Formats: sequence, structure tokens, C-alpha cells
Amino acid sequence: MTTLKNDLFLKALKGETVERPPVWMMRQAGRYLPEFMALKKKYDFFTRCRTPELAAEITVQPIDIIGPDAAILFSDILVIPQAMNIEVEMKDGIGPWLPNPVRSLKDVEQVVVPDVYEELGYVFDAIKLTKEMLDNRVPLIGFAGSPWTILCYAVQGQGSKNFDKAKELCFAHPEAAHALLQKITDTTIAYLKAKVASGVNAVQVFDSWGGMLSPTDYQEFSWKYIQQIVDALKEETEVIVFGKGCWFALQEMAKSGAAALGVDWTCSARNARYLTGGNITLQGNFDPSRLLSPPDQIKKMVTQMIDEFGKDRYVANLGHGILPNIPVENARAFVDAVKNYSK
Ligand code: CP3
Repeated sequence: MTTLKNDLFLKALKGETVERPPVWMMRQAGRYLPEFMALKKKYDFFTRCRTPELAAEITVQPIDIIGPDAAILFSDILVIPQAMNIEVEMKDGIGPWLPNPVRSLKDVEQVVVPDVYEELGYVFDAIKLTKEMLDNRVPLIGFAGSPWTILCYAVQGQGSKNFDKAKELCFAHPEAAHALLQKITDTTIAYLKAKVASGVNAVQVFDSWGGMLSPTDYQEFSWKYIQQIVDALKEETEVIVFGKGCWFALQEMAKSGAAALGVDWTCSARNARYLTGGNITLQGNFDPSRLLSPPDQIKKMVTQMIDEFGKDRYVANLGHGILPNIPVENARAFVDAVKNYSK
């Protein structure tokens, strides 16, 4: 094991005392960076994901340009349904597009639990190459979507304001929904284990659409499966669970064995600390749109955010992914404000 030059992020995940909190931004490798847009013009989305040299270059771009304390591998949560025999396209102006959505038990039977090394080898190659390019400057985060969030796309067939078709499968045909969720869970566990074996230092599960469910339905259709993933991974690596809009589940999540929990900006630091009992590392929760404020104001708000969460057991981040219209200097102001924090 070579040692990392900057291990603040891993220290915070382990709950160790730090001189300042670490910082990274969800979706930091992407659309607000001119260097990313230049590559986007030349190569389509899944070519960028499937070509280790491109994925590694895009992953390292924000480290060179902005300087956060962790890198997150450039990829997408939707490579999982793709590997499971569900066709996924990325359409300009629309986003994810799945021409044959999964709508019945019969459809679920066509979904396979693949050999991840066979279907997703390009991801593991990208991890190895990225680790070389990072040269131990910062840790590398691997990620996956939660089974529920993947089901949302697999069943709905595209992004949606309410994922009504996904909910219909869950509530009208629960046996089909649970069979699909279990297949996604099994694939995700094998995938994240292979990511760890390839060199990632921590993993994050994105439950981007968990907040669409009622607290009771959340337990049945989302949390139950995330818990399986945490159980399977927690001995091997640090697991972060980010549930967008899922503050209502924080109490349960805090008992799961996850190293850290992500929160969005609608949940105050005080409420998140209260619900989680104060002992677990929290990550978040700057409103991504607030990066449109002038840099001076961003810096003040970041200092306030750290004061509220406390500098220990805390990873400074946004409350969801960075938006395409954020000026690069504002993203840098966010990261710099955390790096300059002292108390
Ligand atoms: O930090 C990073 O940039 C790492 C890479 C990353 C991407 N997607 C690249 C991407 C990560 C961590 C994701 C996760 C992801 N993908 C989530 C969970 C996080 C979240 O934001 O809630 C979800 C729901 C998806 C599904 C997805 N992929 C959507 C809805 C879209 C279209 C809308 C959009 O955000 O642009 C994508 C496409 C996508 N994934 C892009 C990028 C950089 C933009 C399209 C492109 O580059 O051509």
C-alpha cells in the first residue's frame, strides 16, 4: 500500500480529528469545466465512460483545475443497467433514454446478473489508470446508484418529475419490483467489490430519487437494498450513502455501518446531527445553486456551514451535483473556502 499525500478525506470518514474538513463536489468531473466540454464535443457520452484514457483524464481534470481533496471516477450510475441487458442511451437535451423499459415480471426475467469483470472491465481499467495519473495526490471514490434509483430509470425509461411508472411497478406488482431490486443489488455488490479490488479508496451509493418515496415505502423499496450493499462492503472499504431528500431515514441510516451519510440543503446541520446521534460523519450540504452567488458570499456561507456541522466527522460537499452553469471561479471559491477554514 502506497501512502496518500492527502488523506484528509479518509481521516474524516474514519472519524479522526482533522485540522480542517476535506472537500469535494458531487459531479465535480463534468459540465461546468471548459476542458470537459472540449472532450464532450469530440466523444459521445458512453465512449467517454468506456475509454479508460478519457475517463481517467476527465476524473483528474477537477483535481488539477479546482483542487478538491478527493477524486470521483468519471462514469455513470447507468452503466449498471446496461451491463444487465437493459439498453441505455444518452440523448442530448433529454438525458438518459432506455428504449425498452422494464414493466413486468416477464421483463424482469430478461434482466441478467452479469459477470461484472466481463461486462464492466472498462471501469476497472479506468480506475487503475486514474490511480496512476493521480499518483497518490488524493484518494479516489468509486460509486454506484442505489437499487431504487436504478429501478427508477430502468422502469420509467427516462428522467421524470415523479417516476410514476417506477412507482406503479412497485405498488401494483411488488413481486416484480423486488425481483428487479434484488438483481440490481447483487450486481451492484459485485461491481463495488471489483472497484475496491481495482483501487478505489471509498465508495458512494447515490440514492438520488429516494426522496420520492414515503418513509415507509423508502424502507421497503430502497433502504432494505442499500443496507445489503453496506453490509457487503463495509469490511472492505468506507461506504458513503447519499440519499437526496431522505432526511427522514437518517436515524435508520446512522445504524447501518456506513462510514458517512450525505445530506442535501433542505436538512439543517443541526437536524442531521440530531437525527444521526452526533457520532457519524456527515457530508454535504451546500445548495448547488448557491454557487451562483458572488465568490465572497460563497466563502462566508461555507465558513458558516462548517461552523454548523463542526470541523470533525464532516466532509464539505454540495447537497447534490454541481450545475452546468456554475462559473469555474465560483467552484474554486467553494473549495478554497473549505481549505482556508481554521478554528
Ligand atoms: O463527479 C462526476 O462527474 C462523476 C461522474 C458522474 C456522472 N454521473 C457523469 C455524467 C456521476 C457520479 C454520475 C451519477 C449519476 N448519473 C446520478 C447520481 C447523482 C445525481 O446527480 O443525482 C444520476 C441520477 C445519473 C443519471 C444521469 N446521467 C442523468 C440524469 C444524466 C443527464 C443529466 C445530466 O446530469 O447531465 C446523466 C448524464 C451525465 N452523467 C453527464 C455527466 C457528466 C452529462 C452528459 C454528458 O456529459 O454528455
